Amino acid sequence: MPARKIIAGNWKMNCSITTFEYVRNLREEQFAGLDAFIALPDVYVSHARDVFPGFISLGAQDISRYEEGAYTGEVSARMLRECGVSHVIIGHSERRTLFNEDNRTVSEKLSRCLGNSLRPVLCIGESANCRKGGNYIDFLHNQLRESLGEHKNIGIDVAYEPVWAIGGGRSAGPEEIAEVVEHVHSWMAQYGLRGGILYGGSASSESIDEIIGIRFVDGVLVGNASLTDEFGMIAEKISTTASAREINTK
Ligand code: PGA
Repeated sequence: MPARKIIAGNWKMNCSITTFEYVRNLREEQFAGLDAFIALPDVYVSHARDVFPGFISLGAQDISRYEEGAYTGEVSARMLRECGVSHVIIGHSERRTLFNEDNRTVSEKLSRCLGNSLRPVLCIGESANCRKGGNYIDFLHNQLRESLGEHKNIGIDVAYEPVWAIGGGRSAGPEEIAEVVEHVHSWMAQYGLRGGILYGGSASSESIDEIIGIRFVDGVLVGNASLTDEFGMIAEKISTTASAREINTK
């Protein structure tokens, strides 16, 4: 279990230059004791480097599966690293479903992250149909195992993002999240993965208290709500809960 709770934003292709304005106004106290990053489109990385406050790290939403070479349009892990990116989301369900990314490709991207000292955040998640079919735990385990490929005993965060909860405005229920993250926790131990477990899928300032209270949830990956100062409100709630727990366990 990581020492600090994690909050990650994913701006997807939904941001513009004006989105940066709210980030400038975020307050450090809101993020006290948290690891925070925002994954933004690569073209904005250098701008983000200038305007992001020091307590928000730079993230990418994807990277090339290749190290370097004649791959027009691709952006490599090394390039991102050189430009100040520290975290990379890999295997997001939108990449998997809209761009046909399979587990093998995700495992290659994982290799690129690890080889370039980028912290990977690996997304797994089942579709609504898969959940209805009942074998979603096996599906998720398989997705994790194949996305890891050969990699074991590594530093990585795993985000559980049920596809049916993404972007819809209603997060998964606490029992649904709790069941899966308990499995993820034991798989991570089995493969020697050192890192946190994030939940993602319509996380908001309303649902965050419930989500962060779930055993084995170490943080959240936030899409829509990271486009406004709601991101700061979510961080503040996580930070307050985490420090209250620390005091109670002393
Ligand atoms: P959402 O997106 O918070 O808008 O549901 C989460 C994600 O896709 O990472």
